[in-house]
Order: sequence, then C-alpha cells, then structure tokens
Amino acid sequence: MSRRTLPLNDTLYDYLLSVSLPEPEVLRQLRAETARHPRAEMQIAPEQGQFMALLARLMGARRALEIGVFTGYSALWVALALPPDGELIACDLNEEYTAVARRYWEAAGVADRITLRLGPARDTLEALLAEGAAGTFDLAFIDADKESYEHYYERTLHLVRPGGLILLDNLLMRGRVVDPTNRAPAVEAIRQLNEKLHRDPRVDYVLLPVGDGLGLARRR
Ligand SMILES: C[S@@+](CC[C@H](N)C(=O)[O-])C[C@H]1O[C@@H](n2cnc3c(N)ncnc32)[C@H](O)[C@@H]1O
Repeated sequence: MSRRTLPLNDTLYDYLLSVSLPEPEVLRQLRAETARHPRAEMQIAPEQGQFMALLARLMGARRALEIGVFTGYSALWVALALPPDGELIACDLNEEYTAVARRYWEAAGVADRITLRLGPARDTLEALLAEGAAGTFDLAFIDADKESYEHYYERTLHLVRPGGLILLDNLLMRGRVVDPTNRAPAVEAIRQLNEKLHRDPRVDYVLLPVGDGLGLARRR
C-alpha cells in the first residue's frame, strides 16, 4: 500500500517502461529522431502517449483534436487508436516541426486520419466553431503556448461533446507552479488555470502526476 504516488528514479522509470510500454516501431523511431531535435523536451513522455491512446480506445473516440503538434508524437499515438474512418484535427503554426510529423504519419499509414491545420490555434478553434464543429469531438489534447491554455480550454469545452474528454499537458510546469518567486507569465497562467479547473462545475476533473502533470477534464 502507498498513500501517495511513488517518486521515480531513473532505474525505476526504466523498469516501468520495460514492463509497460508496447511502443510501435514507428513511434519509437519518431521519438529517437525527435531526441536529436534542439526542442526535444517539448515531446510528451512515451507512457503518456500510451495512456492517451488507451483513453481514446476506452472511449471509442472517433474524432479528436490536438493543439500543439511539434513533431507529431502525441498525435500519432492518438491517431493509431482511432478507427480507420476516425479523424484527428491537429493544430500547430510551425511548418518545420510538422513536416517531421507528416513524414511519420505517412509511414504509420494514418496520414489520411489526420488533418493538420497550420496557423495560430486561436484562429483554428474559432474557424472550427464557425464551421459547426461544436460538440463533435470525443477527445482533445491541449499542449501549446501556456499563456493561451485557458482560452484553448474554454473553446475546446464547446468543441467536445458532453462526456468528451479534454487533456491538458504541463500543469505542474516542472515544479515551477509551487515556486512563489516565479512570476513568469506562463507559470502564472497555469497557476490560475489549475485553480479554475479544480473547481469548474462543468467538468469531472483529475490532475495526475503523469509526465509534467496531466489534467483530465470530462465535460458534464
Ligand atoms: C509542447 S509542443 C507540442 C508537443 C507535442 N504534443 C508532442 O507530444 O510531441 C508545443 C507546440 O505548440 C505549437 N504552438 C505554440 N504556439 C502556438 C499557437 N499559438 N498556435 C498553434 N500552435 C502553437 C509549437 O509550434 C509547438 O509545436
């Protein structure tokens, strides 16, 4: 028995991955290529991708939304968990990062399930709402610029169906949220959002110590 989540040292973390992670080869290759990227730390952890894919399967998700694609690792986990006629709308503004993503989505045979919408995510979310996509998504993942998280959350809450799930990454900000001397705008934005999420009556909510802090908000 343990009354709190176990801290993981490197040995225990490697063990966890060795007995948990059935990572498809194409995802392993994408992770290896991204590890050489100067912004590699932006990628989610493999067990988080695996967890998100399991959630998508549990929900029978057919339509998913991702805000913040980078080289496409989290998007690929989710796309692989969708049925062949499922769709993932993937939002990012960086052509260079997402060119890598497109390559791996092709290699994995799921490029036809993923629609990449390049441009500021705020504009893409407004466009989706204007196109009549409110209430059509089963699952959404927010993993882009932290100052906009609250805005993305509010718009995404309209885009997911009742019972749909919104995942929010980096809610612990590598511990910076509990450093009172850190007044950086991104940290302040996440602190405010954390306060809001845990008392938001519109969702069932849990914040888990997965990766850098993963929030799960189920629209009521
Ligand atoms: C943390 S990374 C995403 C990591 C990705 N989910 C993964 O697991 O590999 C954040 C991404 O958000 C994108 N981004 C930042 N600001 C954005 C904005 N205003 N609109 C759309 N995308 C944005 C960046 O280009 C970057 O690719």
